Parts: sequence; C-alpha cells; structure tokens
Amino acid sequence: MFLKKLKLTNFRNYADFEQEFNTLKTIIIGPNAQGKTNILEAINILATSVSDRAERDSNLVSWNNEYALIFADIQTKDDNLNIALQINSSGRRKLKINGVAKRAPQADLLGNFFCVMFSCEDLYLIKGSPSVRRSWLDSILFQLDIKYHKALQDYQKSVTQKNALLKNSYESGMSRKALKEQLDIWNEQIINFGSEILIKRLGFIEEIKVVAREFQKNISKGNEELDLIYQSTVTGITSNIDQMKISFKKSLEESFEKEIARGQSVIGPHRDDLTFLINEKEAKSFASQGQQRSIVLALKLSELKVIEHRKGEIPVLLLDDVFAELDESRQDFLLHNLPPNIQTFITTTHISDIQKELLENAKVIKIESGKVLNLVG
Ligand SMILES: Nc1ncnc2c1ncn2[C@@H]1O[C@H](COP(=O)(O)OP(=O)(O)OP(=O)(O)O)[C@@H](O)[C@H]1O
Ligand SMILES: [Mg+2]
Repeated sequence: MFLKKLKLTNFRNYADFEQEFNTLKTIIIGPNAQGKTNILEAINILATSVSDRAERDSNLVSWNNEYALIFADIQTKDDNLNIALQINSSGRRKLKINGVAKRAPQADLLGNFFCVMFSCEDLYLIKGSPSVRRSWLDSILFQLDIKYHKALQDYQKSVTQKNALLKNSYESGMSRKALKEQLDIWNEQIINFGSEILIKRLGFIEEIKVVAREFQKNISKGNEELDLIYQSTVTGITSNIDQMKISFKKSLEESFEKEIARGQSVIGPHRDDLTFLINEKEAKSFASQGQQRSIVLALKLSELKVIEHRKGEIPVLLLDDVFAELDESRQDFLLHNLPPNIQTFITTTHISDIQKELLENAKVIKIESGKVLNLVG
C-alpha cells in the first residue's frame, strides 16, 4: 500500500495540511508538541478507526471547530483508493470511499487501508496494564477482520447493560430470582459475541506467535525463546465455537455470586490479558529494558507480516519517535527485516537519532505549530 496524498482539515493542531508523498520514506521532524504524532495518528485512524490517544472523537477535532476531515489518496496493489473521513465533535462520523457515502462509517472504514504503528507507548505492552494489551489486539483485529469490530461493539454494549443491571439490583433491592432472569438475557448475548471475539483473538495469537518467536530468536542471536499466552477469565477456552460457548456459560455460572458481590461483569474478553514469556519466564516480571524493547520490536515486525499474509498488502509503517528508544543494533534489525517496498513514516525531534541508511532517499518534512515549514530532500 502506498499513501500518495494526505489532507487534514481542522484535525488536532492542523487547520489545513496537504502533502503528496512519492518516496518510500518520509521523515517528519520538528520540536516537541508541534504536530508530528498528529499526522501519524490521522493516518492510523484510517486503518484502525480508533486512536489510542483520543478518549473521544471530539479530541481529534481542532479546538473551537465542529468537525475534522481526513482525506487520503492511496495506491493499493491493484487499485486506487480514496478515503474521506469526517469526524464531528458531536461524535458522529461520515465516510466516503471512492466518492461513495457509506452507511456505517466505523465499520465500513475498516479493511480498506492497513497500518502498523510503532511508538514509545508500545513499550508499555509488556509491563503496562491488561487494557494496553487488549487495545493492541483489538487494533490489529479491527484491520484483519471486519466481523471482529462488530462483535466487539455488540459485546461491549451487552456488558454495559449487564453492569447497569448489576449496579441497579443493589439499589432497587431486586430479588435473586428476578436478577438471575434478567442477567441471563445479557449473558446469552455476552456468550455469543464474547465467544466469537475469543476465537478470533486465539487464532490471531497462534498466528503471530510463530512469526514473533522467529524474530525474537534472531534479535537475541538464538538466546531467547518468546511465547505468547492468552490469559482468559473464561476457563477452558478452545478453538471450537460451540465448545467455547459451553465453557463461557459455565464460567459465568460459576462467577454468578462474585459478579453480584462486585456489582460488575468480571468474566469475558473485556477482562482478559496476554502474557509474554521469555525462556519460560514472565516478561512482565523479569524482562530487562532491553529485552522489553526487543519483544516489542519482534511484535511490530510480526504485525506487519501477519497483516501482509492475511490481506495480501504490505501495510504502511508508522514509526513515532522510536529511534531514541532503539539502540543501533535494534535499529539495524528493524531496517533489515522490513519488506523492501514498505512505505514508512518516521517522526523525530532529532534527525541524529536516525541511522543514515534510513535517511537515504527520504523526503523530510519540517513541522512547526501544525504547519509545514519547508521541504528538504
Ligand atoms: N484538538 C486539538 N486542537 C488543537 N490542537 C490540538 C488538539 N489536540 C492536540 N493539539 C495540539 O497538538 C500538539 C501536539 O501534537 P503532537 O502530539 O503531534 O506533537 P509532537 O510533535 O508529536 O510532539 P512530541 O515530539 O512531544 O511527541 C499540542 O501542541 C497540542 O496542544
Ligand atoms: Mg509525538
């Protein structure tokens, strides 16, 4: 995939940004807080529909404006793709693909354009909270599988309703029997959507695990064996959907009292986690800073491979300020393990952090206060 042109209107600190890209590498350089990450964020939203940094859509719209526009011209393997996404501060979106208005702007955006974003925040993948790892899984699965996004949306709605019921049951003094009957309605939906999510997450982990293990072995010169284990609050997860539903139901039944006592839903993919092991030891507790960086690097390179394998398109790579965090050998490793024709956007405050090889034939864009200053190279 190749992003040929990006236009931003009232997006974050960009009133009006327009750039054409015709080199494989684009370096976005500028001091802190000028808008470098904002550009990558806009590109990433076109692939994942979400932004880790924005709690809500209104954060993406320039202050005192009603809506933001992200417009992109993309070259895919065998076609031209044109995406126009309007993000309203009210939270509503509008989407046109190749000039045709779409009815479901969130879901219809997915599966058209693919990205892998690698930023300093990704270092929290190992030691951060479970929600960081879940968001990581979700953002990749949104791109890989449109049905995953729908299942997750429906699942989250059911969990919200169930939580409201559990909370209200306290205040209203509802009988156990009545509560159980009402909970069963939501649990049935939670089992159906949740099992679909679990199956897709497990399938993805199995796939990325094989690739990531190979990368980790090579980064560590054969010393480190990486493993990924999906830790579910559902006991007895399996790759068979019918069996999964049975396990899910059983886990919910067993946690009935616990959920009532806590006043919230505690079983299901919204409470699951992922464990990384290095040589059979949990990375969260034992991995050094360097090892954590290597794992994240291995995961990001694997993300690229899995997306390429499943979608038949090389995703666009967004490297947000990661070079200050990667030493020379890891930078080398990254560089020499990328697909040859991958389009890469790199942000940095200091060009000296970036290896010379990466700067070759790169277009350099200087950013200051949401404006392109000048173009070099
Ligand atoms: N909704 C918004 N409207 C206007 N400005 C915004 C909005 N959201 C963020 N900003 C501004 O965008 C700037 C941050 O942009 P960004 O995160 O892209 O910086 P950066 O160049 O990547 O900085 P760093 O080098 O520190 O990572 C800040 O000045 C912030 O105030
Ligand atoms: Mg930044």
